[in-house]
Amino acid sequence: MSGFETIIYEKRDETGFVTLNRPQSLNVYNLKMRDELYQVLGAIKDDPELKVAIFKGAGDRAFCAGADLTEFLTAPSPIIARQVRWERDVWGLFLSINKPLIAALHGYVLGSGIEIALCCDIRIASEDTQFGVPEMGLGIIPAAGGSQTLPRVMGKAHALEMLLTGRRVKAEEAYRLKLVNQVVRRVDLIPAAEKMANKIKSYDPIAVSYAKQAINHGLDLRLEQGLAYEASLGIRLLKSLVEN
Ligand code: COA
Repeated sequence: MSGFETIIYEKRDETGFVTLNRPQSLNVYNLKMRDELYQVLGAIKDDPELKVAIFKGAGDRAFCAGADLTEFLTAPSPIIARQVRWERDVWGLFLSINKPLIAALHGYVLGSGIEIALCCDIRIASEDTQFGVPEMGLGIIPAAGGSQTLPRVMGKAHALEMLLTGRRVKAEEAYRLKLVNQVVRRVDLIPAAEKMANKIKSYDPIAVSYAKQAINHGLDLRLEQGLAYEASLGIRLLKSLVEN
């Protein structure tokens, strides 16, 4: 897949690399990026050769500094309404992908940027990363799932503090708050993400997919339902092993 304006999508050795590519404006998320991301996510989901994907930002300064405010502030309200609807589709598609997704984060990770990172399963940040949810300052609330994904990852109190105060959190604190899995030197960021991807790729992709589903879907269930769900996936996996 190529020919995108705002995203670079590459595939190497069963790994998809998604680069948000508007470095001149800190990779902010605009309508074009939304449409292109939607296509790329569909490809990641459907491509049988692809086992894992890594999301990163182009340039030195940001993974993504949020929504493109030049579009946001000029769009008439019906367009904003349409935008929000479409955004739900993008985030729904993101969360429906049963392959592991790794976010390799650096610089500013704000607004939609943190929401993209939260749609990934594993977040690795370089030491220069700053996270923030600046929506309150704009008089809006997150529109890309952030109010739901952030507390699920870091717990309610810290999520509320980040959202209600807009305070920016640096990489080391983000690690303590469980927002990221690892903090590495900037130079080690992509190698660390690739190392993680390679480890995951060395396992059976169906088992990996079921493990992701067991945890992600299971968290939305009561414990006894979650245990039953895990058992049903385990039986399905055993059957597929016996049949093949
Ligand atoms: N929408 C559109 N353009 C943006 C942007 C956004 N959200 N954030 C940054 N940019 C652009 C700037 O306009 C600037 O473009 P220019 O060089 O053509 O003037 C370029 O990206 C660099 O940003 P700049 O503000 O000059 O860098 P900085 O180091 O002084 O500040 C930030 C960086 C991230 C702190 C600051 O850009 C900022 O607060 N951005 C808005 C973040 C935000 O509210 N996002 C929306 C969340 S819903």
